[in-house]
Amino acid sequence: MKISVLKERRPYESRVAATPETIKKLVALGHEIVVESGAGLQAAFPDAHYEAAGATIAKDMKAALKGAQVVLKVQPPMNKDEGEDEISYLPEGSLLIGILSPFKYTSHLKTYAEKKISAFGLEFVPRITRAQVMDVLSSQSNLAGYRAVIETATVLPRAFPMMMTAAGTIAPAKVLILGAGVAGLQAVATAKRLGAIPSAFDVRAAAKEQVESLGGKFVTVDSEETGEGTGGYAKEMSADYQTRQREKIQETMAKSDIVITTALIPGKPAPRLIDNEMIQSMRSGSVILDLAVESGGNVEGSEIGKITEIHGVKVIGYPNLPGRIPTDASAMYAKNVLSFLSLMMPKDSQDFVIPWEDEIIQSSVLTKDGAIIHPQFKA
Ligand code: NAI
Repeated sequence: MKISVLKERRPYESRVAATPETIKKLVALGHEIVVESGAGLQAAFPDAHYEAAGATIAKDMKAALKGAQVVLKVQPPMNKDEGEDEISYLPEGSLLIGILSPFKYTSHLKTYAEKKISAFGLEFVPRITRAQVMDVLSSQSNLAGYRAVIETATVLPRAFPMMMTAAGTIAPAKVLILGAGVAGLQAVATAKRLGAIPSAFDVRAAAKEQVESLGGKFVTVDSEETGEGTGGYAKEMSADYQTRQREKIQETMAKSDIVITTALIPGKPAPRLIDNEMIQSMRSGSVILDLAVESGGNVEGSEIGKITEIHGVKVIGYPNLPGRIPTDASAMYAKNVLSFLSLMMPKDSQDFVIPWEDEIIQSSVLTKDGAIIHPQFKA
């Protein structure tokens, strides 16, 4: 099969969907791999490394897509209104694999269907044990949580660990993490490793034990309600709970140097957890990082791609934090993609055979045979 790897063109993206390591494996299985020139450059994978792994380098996007049967991406391809038109050049009947964000780019689905493309959104891979190796949300959120702490540490005008010196004692920084999913838990672990004192809050009661096992303190809201929704995700909370949560968070924020927010609800705008008044309760020089800035933001006033100063508090709104650690993020993403592809590569055939009845395929396929078939998007 001819598999093409495109350069990512969207702003703030520096990852790539395949690495020389994963390409070597695909070549060994007998596939022909074409990589668009420069695709891995920002992630420190130059063209020469892809060539050494057995790929052919195509001079531009159109050449890379010519005759492609499978197209690998990180972000959704762009249409002509968004920038350089990639979607028009996707070959009819090809397979497209990536984080396709159909809630945001819903109109793309119609175009994929018209072109008879089988489009797979990796963010829809179910979180079952067998699919852990393909879980892009986990592999990328984990790195985002790590990077969030590093970003705040470089902006905070104070040190993280406690230091007792002849010139005086520096108190350890206090880091509050809101949302203790994959990113939040890694943020707790990273803050702890750097010598800070982490605490975390989540609406899901199950998060308490996980936070504590990493050495963090769990912030508890006085309420009977818990936020467990379907599939381990959070649900939206009642107005009464939100009021209590706000009070408790504000109280903890006032004693924290850093707040990192990671709260998301699948398919919905991110919950607003921090307003202007709460920011004001923090000491001047404190830092907030809003990991949900691209989904509407957990923090009032956070702006995509900027550090905003509000009441002397710096609010970081960097989007795509995994993209700020592109070598590791690409390596993990590429392995997730390879595992996903392996579902379609029977040992005795060089053709792709898609097991349409497989739960993983059924959950992630968005368009097939000229129609939008994913239950959340079909008309
Ligand atoms: P996510 O990225 O959807 O959300 C981040 C966190 O924000 C979640 O922990 C969520 O509970 C929390 N949150 C939502 N609304 C909130 C609010 N109003 N206030 C405070 N926190 C709020 O979550 P992620 O990281 O994708 O994890 C979701 C679930 O999936 C977790 O239960 C996790 O343990 C589970 N999971 C299971 C895996 C598996 O079984 N293979 C792999 C990875 C995660």
